[in-house]
Amino acid sequence: MPYSHLVSERIIMTPASERHWLRPPSDDRPTRFAYGADYNPEQWPREVWKEDVRLMREAGVTIVSVAIFSWARLQPAEDRWDFAWLDEVLDLLHDNGIAVDLATATASPPPWLTTLHPEILPVTHTGETLSQGARQHWRPTSPVFRTYALRLVETMATRYADHPAVVAWHISNELGCHNIYDYSDDAARAFRDWLRSRYGTLDELNRAWATSFWSQYYGEWDQIQPPRLAASHANPTQQLDFKRFSSDALKDYLRAERDVLRRITPRIPVTTNFMVMGETRGMNYPDWAEEIDFVSNDHYAHPGPQRLDELSFSAALTHSIAGGRPWFLMEHSTSAVNWQPVNVAKREGELARDSLVHVAHGADAVCFFQWRQSAAGAEKHHSAMVPHAGPDSEVFRAVAALGRTLEALTPVTGSVREPARAALVYDWESWWAVERDSQPSSLLRYRQEALDWYSAFLALGVRVDVVTTTADLTGYDFVAAPVLHVVPQALAGRLDAYVRGGGHLATTYYSGVVDENDHVHLGGYPGALRDLLGIRIEEFGPLQEDVDVRLDNGLTGTLWTDRIDLTDSGVTVLARYEDGDQAGRPAVTRRALEEGGSAAYVSTRLGSHGLPDVLGPLLSGAGVLSELPVGVRGQVELTVRTDDSHAYWFLVNRTDEPVVFEAVDGEVLSGPSPAGGGLVLPSRGVAVLRVASGATPFPHGQATA
Ligand code: GAL
Repeated sequence: MPYSHLVSERIIMTPASERHWLRPPSDDRPTRFAYGADYNPEQWPREVWKEDVRLMREAGVTIVSVAIFSWARLQPAEDRWDFAWLDEVLDLLHDNGIAVDLATATASPPPWLTTLHPEILPVTHTGETLSQGARQHWRPTSPVFRTYALRLVETMATRYADHPAVVAWHISNELGCHNIYDYSDDAARAFRDWLRSRYGTLDELNRAWATSFWSQYYGEWDQIQPPRLAASHANPTQQLDFKRFSSDALKDYLRAERDVLRRITPRIPVTTNFMVMGETRGMNYPDWAEEIDFVSNDHYAHPGPQRLDELSFSAALTHSIAGGRPWFLMEHSTSAVNWQPVNVAKREGELARDSLVHVAHGADAVCFFQWRQSAAGAEKHHSAMVPHAGPDSEVFRAVAALGRTLEALTPVTGSVREPARAALVYDWESWWAVERDSQPSSLLRYRQEALDWYSAFLALGVRVDVVTTTADLTGYDFVAAPVLHVVPQALAGRLDAYVRGGGHLATTYYSGVVDENDHVHLGGYPGALRDLLGIRIEEFGPLQEDVDVRLDNGLTGTLWTDRIDLTDSGVTVLARYEDGDQAGRPAVTRRALEEGGSAAYVSTRLGSHGLPDVLGPLLSGAGVLSELPVGVRGQVELTVRTDDSHAYWFLVNRTDEPVVFEAVDGEVLSGPSPAGGGLVLPSRGVAVLRVASGATPFPHGQATA
């Protein structure tokens, strides 16, 4: 065993601040951006490995994630191990100055294991057992799977504890990507245990689940099942609890791997790659983040008009999930993926721009899936840093150029994203709750509404943080909380205190409606927020897919309307319905409190194009203005990172045309050189300007005009 360790000497827990991938304890190199990819050398003959490291150096690669899907290679049979190839790969990387984020290799169990123990395979809600043959075919709650997986983790940790290349552990891979919901008997048992600890007694569970409805009363714990395929709508609280449980079950698995790693290698930081992106909603990441030493995220852009907004939104949310600390972009793509209906290549400039938007939002590492494009297998049409065409390619040249850009941005590493004055609340529980069956409308998409608000902030050129419901809101002048559907009393109290303390809140249709058990707050909607908003709604007015309504401010609403009555004299109607069932009634309201705060309500879906018209005046009312020159607002995304002495202004051209800044101050760390006192940001270009902390690169007068 080449890399032995002394467990007894290392058992003392290292503080999290010392477990950082940028600074392994033995490393006194200056901090710089980590740059690299998933590296899967087992797909290639040995001769290619040497060429790989040569090209990695050429591209400025500093770190690779290794062994993510290597279980079958490392343990070809229950009692046979083969580490020789991985030893060689790690040595080769280390000899070339490339660090390793080493996977625990548990993501895809080998065929010998599923043959020996088919009871580890997940079961769908219709009762079908998933087969081996792809990846992640394991039950999060299977004790058998856990035994085998933890044995592998222990073996890996023991073997590589002292390997100098290893700077971080990468637990499994995208936990829950394919196996978040398992309805097997293992899951049923674990679900009952979870419910026991949540509710304590069956009486309490029966109350929370409202089992007097449809004769669902439970007399014994063993009578409870996961929400498997049923004759009609399954109990909604059971469904919500199953989502909570499923996220917790995987979190528990994550902790089990982590505990093995921390016991054996307490000085090596541990991460796992989240998927804060698109419609991936099964894992409640804000609730997972504390379990690991640093947050990593995978992000794949979705084509469409909000492609870049969604990327930025995900990065901003990842920043807040990471608690404001630097985070690791573990995967994104150099160009096309292979799993969308049509997989479009990235256009010129997008590879760098996409990466730098993540950096702008606090990433200190930029990695791709994967290093070398596979020649075979399910992902052979997925782009990589070295494409099928080889290094003589636009993609590889763009990859190497990004390596140089990241090097130029070295001073930015370790700085943190400066908090904005406005926040957008994003809530997993509301996301889960509003998209179940048996709702007023099946057309409501929680993330889309939140994204539309984010797009509106971008259109206005106003920086915004994306925060969760547990965030401290007191530092924000303005808080938007669209479709905040699940509002326990404690949250209602915090929002109330925020507004009474002078804060400005905006929320929307279908907010405040239920408590944590999915029981309606009675007395009229928006339930828990009714008094704060000074309105009362007796009935929802959802709209059919092809119906829209006009508002008297020229905007058009879709998806939803509400029959609003005003209940407080401090409420102003900002817009009324002009047609439809609510014609003449309020559509957008704002209650101004004597204390100085306000609470606004938007009762219909205005979309990314309509929302700026409503959001702009609300922001001005809260005193929140764009920090960008007037002429570039909407065309440029602004994000600021700061350290003790400097501020780094990231200016991202969101358009396909050049954008002109008439005058800028500050040192350009990366991007176009200033000319004549101004700066022309090319199509899809990014500039990073360094100024003294507290200063602005835009000479006085431009920003507030
Ligand atoms: C991720 C995964 C990678 C690769 C990539 C392709 O979900 O972690 O292994 O499959 O997607 O986009």
